[in-house]
Amino acid sequence: MTPLIEFKDVYKIYQMGDNVVNAIDGISMKVYKGEFVAIVGQSGSGKSTCMNIIGCLDVPTKGKYFLDGKDVSCMNDDEQAEIRNKKLGFIFQQYNLITKLNVLQNVELPLLYAGLSDKEQEERAMASLKRVGLEDKAKNMTSQLSGGQQQRVSIARALAGDPSIILADEPTGALDSKTGKDVLGFLKKLHKEGNTIVLITHDNTIAAQAQRVIRIQDGRVIYDGEPDITKFAAVAHAGDAEGGESV
Ligand SMILES: Nc1ncnc2c1ncn2[C@@H]1O[C@H](COP(=O)(O)OP(=O)(O)O)[C@@H](O)[C@H]1O
Ligand SMILES: [Mg+2]
Repeated sequence: MTPLIEFKDVYKIYQMGDNVVNAIDGISMKVYKGEFVAIVGQSGSGKSTCMNIIGCLDVPTKGKYFLDGKDVSCMNDDEQAEIRNKKLGFIFQQYNLITKLNVLQNVELPLLYAGLSDKEQEERAMASLKRVGLEDKAKNMTSQLSGGQQQRVSIARALAGDPSIILADEPTGALDSKTGKDVLGFLKKLHKEGNTIVLITHDNTIAAQAQRVIRIQDGRVIYDGEPDITKFAAVAHAGDAEGGESV
């Protein structure tokens, strides 16, 4: 089986004057269809850099990234934008909803370039809103919703294009713990329904909810295995074993 995500010895190196930062320092990993993987690490460990590469928002300095078997490093900007639109659904910490658009219009965004009629777009977006239980808010403005509801809209938007992978970057970071739990429960449900999920977090207790944990530190993988917090937290630097440090 072809992995959906494959990193082959990926590096991301930033040159800051005399200073060289190896944000990603030789990561190899594979994620297969149907997996629910958490990438966990403390602030500065390379999570966002990793997310940007997985999401085709950035390319490796060295090494290869294959998305569904295709070498992203060889694609031009247009091809990257197209594969990003088709294969990936994004969920961000700050929801990234467009406040000038209503809920339904936000969820329709990933469908704009999918060659669907207006009616089909609306039907797909409504179906997606139904999945997160917000169909009755379709005509509301996003500012009229609570934080948890806004995050559910962003989940509906991520789902609308029927992506191969859902990429969630600190999706509970801006929410209170109860609402954060609901959002996490939702990701688990999507996983049970067959979706592939990559969750990026600094929080060990959140990572432990996934099916598999990849721990990164200083741009390298230091753990890749079962979501047993006593195991994956133990491999980290002293001071990083508690989880939940703020970013
Ligand atoms: N554009 C950039 N230029 C220079 N250094 C960067 C840049 N982006 C990230 N870094 C550095 O790379 C390392 C990893 O950063 P990042 O991926 O944002 O970590 P995390 O998301 O885990 O906090 C950090 O040391 C950070 O300062
Ligand atoms: Mg980050």
